[in-house]
Amino acid sequence: DMDVFTYDPGFTSTGSCESAITFIDGDKGELLYRGYPIDQLAEKSHYLEVCYLLLYGELPTAAQMEDFESRVTHHTMLHEQMKNFYSGFRRDAHPMAVVCGVVGAMSAFYHDSTDISDPWQREVATIRLIAKLPTIVAWAFKYSVGQPMVYPRNDLDYASNFLHMCFAVPAEPYEVNPILARAMDRIFTLHADHEQNASTSTVRLAGSSGANPFACIAAGVACLWGPAHGGANQACLEMLREIGSVDRIPEYVNRAKDKNDPFRLMGFGHRVYKNFDPRAKVMQQTAKEVLDLLGVADNPLLQVAQELERIALEDPYFKEKKLYPNVDFYSGIILEAMGFPTELFTPIFALARTVGWISQWKEMLEEPVQKIGRPRQLYTGATYRDYTDVEKR
Ligand code: SDX
Repeated sequence: DMDVFTYDPGFTSTGSCESAITFIDGDKGELLYRGYPIDQLAEKSHYLEVCYLLLYGELPTAAQMEDFESRVTHHTMLHEQMKNFYSGFRRDAHPMAVVCGVVGAMSAFYHDSTDISDPWQREVATIRLIAKLPTIVAWAFKYSVGQPMVYPRNDLDYASNFLHMCFAVPAEPYEVNPILARAMDRIFTLHADHEQNASTSTVRLAGSSGANPFACIAAGVACLWGPAHGGANQACLEMLREIGSVDRIPEYVNRAKDKNDPFRLMGFGHRVYKNFDPRAKVMQQTAKEVLDLLGVADNPLLQVAQELERIALEDPYFKEKKLYPNVDFYSGIILEAMGFPTELFTPIFALARTVGWISQWKEMLEEPVQKIGRPRQLYTGATYRDYTDVEKR
């Protein structure tokens, strides 16, 4: 029997690793970033401060925060030639295809931050990725709607800059609503990291081969795209829209329970959480605030979502399977109310998760021993046999 559980630092053959960044207690529904609970960070901190915490392990002093924010702010622009990548895509390309392509192409532009053996280059790549993802995602949005790309502005905070690049048009001034910016910032924080989820494990595995940081993050973007992972926020809103009204909820709940029906309740369930996803609780509160602010609290999608949550949480099947709403259940409702098309939900998730991916990549490369990740298998195929000539088959 093969030794499928040998330990090799960085990425064991079981596909797990040691990390000091994020802690999840699935039974309690607890999520800590470097020891700090997610609900406190969502309420009291802000995304760039959370980025600093995830990257360097401690909350920054005022001076450290000012320096970090300045470095990020001064890397938000893309090389002007990168604009050409966008015109190569069809206008109706899914923005995740565009984001995946453009992020991977960053290695063709930022040669001075691709040598992973140089700590300084790793640091510059980290800042560039956190700084440029909002611009890359916003430009994918603008390209898809046929509007001119809007450049980042250094006088705006991170979330406001993203909203401005998404919704400003040259024809008229655009003032970012500070409450929407706060909600956007909070959504970024809630998605920042989540220990060894599928896309983070993908980034670690790619990084363990020595691939450049931009290729590794592009791999993470590709993995996140799936509807079982980051694509769930788009799939969840499309499901709520398909359900359409509360009287049709039982039909969908029954389908989700039917083992012969591949339908899953999008935004429900989690491999690790067997309790409420703490991010979903904060997201639910944020959804109410944003919809109230926008005067759409009677949004039918929110009514369906709240009733679906109530029914599902009372249903014996969901109780027995310990299925609760996850981070993707409410985020789509907020993003739609803010004016984003559903195709942009997962790119926004990718934007926010970039700091988690790159923090874990950084942590892995700072380990004393580097070994390529090499998950093993339990072989279930044919046993040894000799070749058979075609005449005898
Ligand atoms: C994210 O890993 C991460 O941390 C991911 C993430 C992150 O921040 O990176 O949290 C982000 O991806 C959140 C999840 C988003 N995906 C969805 O909302 C899609 C819908 N959810 C399901 O596809 C599902 O819940 C998964 C994929 C999330 C988890 O699936 P698992 O690993 O099969 O879950 P499980 O083993 O706990 O399932 C227990 C049972 C299973 O039935 P049995 O095999 O025991 O008979 O519950 C069933 C599942 O089939 N089940 C569901 C269900 N989710 C699980 N049944 C109906 N509807 C669902 N949503």
